[in-house]
Amino acid sequence: MKRALVVTLIMFAVISAAVAQRRGPGPGFGRFSDAANPPQAKTETEKKILGVLDAMVKVNEMYANVPMGDGRILRLLTESIGAKQVAEFGTSTGYSGLWFSMALEKTGGKLTTFDIDPGRIALARRHFQQAGVEQMITIVEGDAHQTIGKLKGPLDLVFIDADKEGYVDYLNKVLPLVRPGGLILAHNTNSAPDYVRAVTANPDLDTVFAGEGNTLGITLKKR
Ligand SMILES: C[S@@+](CC[C@H](N)C(=O)[O-])C[C@H]1O[C@@H](n2cnc3c(N)ncnc32)[C@H](O)[C@@H]1O
Repeated sequence: MKRALVVTLIMFAVISAAVAQRRGPGPGFGRFSDAANPPQAKTETEKKILGVLDAMVKVNEMYANVPMGDGRILRLLTESIGAKQVAEFGTSTGYSGLWFSMALEKTGGKLTTFDIDPGRIALARRHFQQAGVEQMITIVEGDAHQTIGKLKGPLDLVFIDADKEGYVDYLNKVLPLVRPGGLILAHNTNSAPDYVRAVTANPDLDTVFAGEGNTLGITLKKR
């Protein structure tokens, strides 16, 4: 009788552990997610930029081209390396540009951002104006594979987020302009396998993948 009770208790413990493992972390886990802990504005400028980012998503979810968590990584990296010269391929409606502007407002830096689509550029321009950051951003319209020739180095940070099949071309063209110790970031690298090979096989570079789905490539140009 006693033995049967012990066996039942052991079986109960084993089954409970298996169920808990399948369920994943408990309900408290969400407290540590980006979404449950939105950024807190320190200044009026930050508040204004965060307000526009928020409004953009409410107007049209598609405007949040990078997820908020990835946007926050862009801002953190830009500000923490004290970046002053940042280039972006793929402005779209200005969502990632606004995350950069939050950092550049602190570092006194500038963003040059490239896009081929005049409609999206018009929207980006409006969003930059609404956030009051238009003076730190230059938008270059046209095919960035051509207009990239206008870029001058040294660049502290580059963000590649335009045509996926063009990522390697952007990388090759921009690499000589990035300062040693600078960063090259790329979004949706899961759709750009040639780019992933290029940044992981080059001994001058070191690359990790972070952000949503581990698809934000973060590459250091070694000193
Ligand atoms: C995914 S969206 C960029 C999203 C933006 N970085 C953000 O997070 O808000 C990609 C953009 O790349 C632009 N694009 C595609 N091919 C391009 C090219 N050859 N030259 C410049 N821009 C291009 C598109 O017009 C589109 O706006």
